[in-house]
Amino acid sequence: MTGIDVVTVDGPAGAGKSVTTRALAQRLGIDYLNTGAMYRAVALRALREKINLQDEEALARLASACRIESLSGRTFLDGEDVTDAVRAPEVSQSVRYPANTPSVRAILVEQQRRIGLERPVATEGRDQGTVVFPDARCKFYLTAAPEERARRRMGELAQRGDAASFDDVLAQIIDRDRSDSEREVGPLRQPDDATVVASDGKTVEQVVDEMERVARAKLICLQGPARG
Ligand code: DC
Repeated sequence: MTGIDVVTVDGPAGAGKSVTTRALAQRLGIDYLNTGAMYRAVALRALREKINLQDEEALARLASACRIESLSGRTFLDGEDVTDAVRAPEVSQSVRYPANTPSVRAILVEQQRRIGLERPVATEGRDQGTVVFPDARCKFYLTAAPEERARRRMGELAQRGDAASFDDVLAQIIDRDRSDSEREVGPLRQPDDATVVASDGKTVEQVVDEMERVARAKLICLQGPARG
């Protein structure tokens, strides 16, 4: 069995996975793993090293050389805190290349499994409940309408001082959904045994309340005395 005491949260870009999974992990007293940031870290280093993003072998060599930690909301690449750098627009535009490269996925999936075996963890991404932790006891599929996700992205961009038109942001969301769902390895899929949570019109608090109730009933590590 791999990582049964794992909470997986999969879903499309902008559904609110990061903020809710992080808050959920905090409430449950377990670690939070952001797997999208791992793919972003590989993309960041590839951009910095000016590697041809279409060269699968070069990307795989690079991924195996990267030391990535993405626990508890901060991302480190080879010891450097790249939490903000991996959210830059050029990384968002390039991340599909490592994410769509099967050999890169194999390397990162292996690292994610190791983390989930070592400790109870709430992990978010696209393939966590389907490929990485198919035996997880608690799986969520978090979703929201594309227009709602685009509105949220607009808010995030405005906070960073980046301007964008709603139509462009919506088109990017739809394009990313397509790229995430159509890749052959580790595509975005709703796990059959996942609890589906639609976040449209709900506050983060409401979504996390809903998830916490399900997780508390399912996780073995929470059945004993309360954890810190
Ligand atoms: O969740 P995010 O936007 O930070 O993810 C960045 C990219 O990485 C996105 O295009 C989907 C991809 N990804 C993936 O393929 N598998 C994961 N487990 C997590 C993210």
